Amino acid sequence: MKLSGAARLAGVLGHPVKHSLSPRLHGHWLERYGLDGAYLPLNVAPDDLADVVKALPRMGFSGANVTVPHKEAVIALCDRLDETARRIGAVNTLVFGEDGIEGRNTDAFGFYENIRVDLEARSTAPEKALVLGAGGAARAVVFALAQNGFSTILIANRTRDKAERLSGEIAGEAIAWDEAEQAASGCDLLVNTTVLGMTGKAPLSFHLDDLPKSALVTDIVYAPLKTDLLNRASDRGHPIVDGLGMLLHQARPGFQAWFGTDPKVDEDLRQSVLGAGA
Ligand code: ATR
Repeated sequence: MKLSGAARLAGVLGHPVKHSLSPRLHGHWLERYGLDGAYLPLNVAPDDLADVVKALPRMGFSGANVTVPHKEAVIALCDRLDETARRIGAVNTLVFGEDGIEGRNTDAFGFYENIRVDLEARSTAPEKALVLGAGGAARAVVFALAQNGFSTILIANRTRDKAERLSGEIAGEAIAWDEAEQAASGCDLLVNTTVLGMTGKAPLSFHLDDLPKSALVTDIVYAPLKTDLLNRASDRGHPIVDGLGMLLHQARPGFQAWFGTDPKVDEDLRQSVLGAGA
């Protein structure tokens, strides 16, 4: 590791933060590109967030990632927001500059970069998506799909009100949770943004019979890497993309802003991050 007195500094603000894979991820890139810098886990309680965010630039930090539970609260501490953070209503990346603190949201970018290659390889442009869930992650997913030309984005959530709100504030149309399986008919893409399927949670019981076989199935869950949904989709012959790539790609814009290099997402990085126990 190269670490001089002139090292650039960044980190991830979370509470707790010990499960975050971001230090391993950015550490891999710092090592790979031989950069003089460090990226630290920053365990900050909600009551201390404002003090810490004000102090970090004064301590010479270039910026930080922001994770649970701070992604919304940090908005009030930013001097300006990029368009994506403003629309999604959450910030996951802070960039400290001469003119203050900029809050960005790179989750939408990360989500779409993770599936872009697969979607672009198709002979016809994908148009219709079904998104399961309407929490914070779903907001980024729906925003990304609308920005990338999906003309129909169906949103099904156990609590329908939240799907209605998401569609009103960002894009898409809410449908009933118990109508989602039939609504998969004609879709080019199915995205699970609910916590179902995550280690320790029940699997997502969603039958895929009505989903066209060519539809891409992706899960933003990455622990386990292959959820029950992805296994079932793969067995049916669907192309699948796991959720780890979203985490890896969302980290790129921050790394570039803080350390000055646009880093690559590749198999080496995946293995390095998975070694951390994802
Ligand atoms: P995140 O920010 O990661 O998206 P979240 O905001 O807590 O997390 O959202 C979790 C999502 O999982 C929500 O869509 C939630 O549905 P509700 O809005 O109805 O709570 C969904 N979810 C959680 N448990 C669920 C369950 N047992 N069945 C269906 N959906 C569930």
